[in-house]
Amino acid sequence: MEAIKTHITSPKQRLIKTYVCEGCNRTVEQKELEIPIGPHKGEVILANYGCKCADIKLAEESKRIREQLKKEKMEQFFDTYSLINKSLHEATLENYQPTSEELTKAKQAITSYIQGFDGTENLLLHGNYGTGKSHLSVSVTKKLMAKGYECLFLSLPKLLTKIKETYNNKGITEDELLEVIQHVDLLVLDDIGAEHHTEWVNAKLFEILDDRAGKATIYTTNLDSKELKTRVNERNFSRMMENTKIIKMNGKDYRRKEF
Ligand SMILES: Nc1ncnc2c1ncn2[C@@H]1O[C@H](COP(=O)(O)OP(=O)(O)O)[C@@H](O)[C@H]1O
Ligand SMILES: [Mg+2]
Ligand SMILES: [Zn+2]
Repeated sequence: MEAIKTHITSPKQRLIKTYVCEGCNRTVEQKELEIPIGPHKGEVILANYGCKCADIKLAEESKRIREQLKKEKMEQFFDTYSLINKSLHEATLENYQPTSEELTKAKQAITSYIQGFDGTENLLLHGNYGTGKSHLSVSVTKKLMAKGYECLFLSLPKLLTKIKETYNNKGITEDELLEVIQHVDLLVLDDIGAEHHTEWVNAKLFEILDDRAGKATIYTTNLDSKELKTRVNERNFSRMMENTKIIKMNGKDYRRKEF
């Protein structure tokens, strides 16, 4: 009875070749099997006996594909909700070329921020116009999205315009917008204090900061700390300084370097 059962259910096998696996050095037998039963009865498949490397490779490949899809999803989210200038689309950490010692240090500080990212530490990048504050901030989002973190880049002036637009019922509502801002792993708030800050602006800013308490944010500004404090008010300023590393980025305007 046993013999008959084995005969019925075990597939017909034919040895194709034996080889030594480059991955684990074991001798592997590659066999052709004919599927004995079921809907695929009679079909011939190849199977390796002796090592699991092919299986592992398959698992690694599917992990890679999953991660790629996740990364694409992150990037799609970023593109949908970010408010960012076109000129920054190509910005990466690699193509940032510091033009002074201060900016070299800034790039190093940004690099270690990415490496040690824990989702809670904030950065404040300050310095004059055109030194790459926005460029380096975008670079952080790109690196962290590749690691699977959800990131958002918002120019504060553009965000405020957007919020006002939502009052006219165009597209997404203010609540949706704030919800998105609240949940991302990293938010870049770019160009703080670039425009006149009314009471309304500072109230909105506080709402955003308050919603994100404990979550990583990168702030950039052209103002020095005294000007910033006056512009955003004391309450916002002290929020922005909690658990925040300050990175100085003064220097020449990079866009004018050729002239
Ligand atoms: N050191 C640099 N290396 C490469 N590109 C730079 C550098 N600094 C600035 N840029 C580019 O110059 C432009 C202005 O930089 P940006 O980051 O907007 O300056 P900031 O935000 O400090 O005013 C951007 O297009 C940016 O990509
Ligand atoms: Mg900028
Ligand atoms: Zn192997």
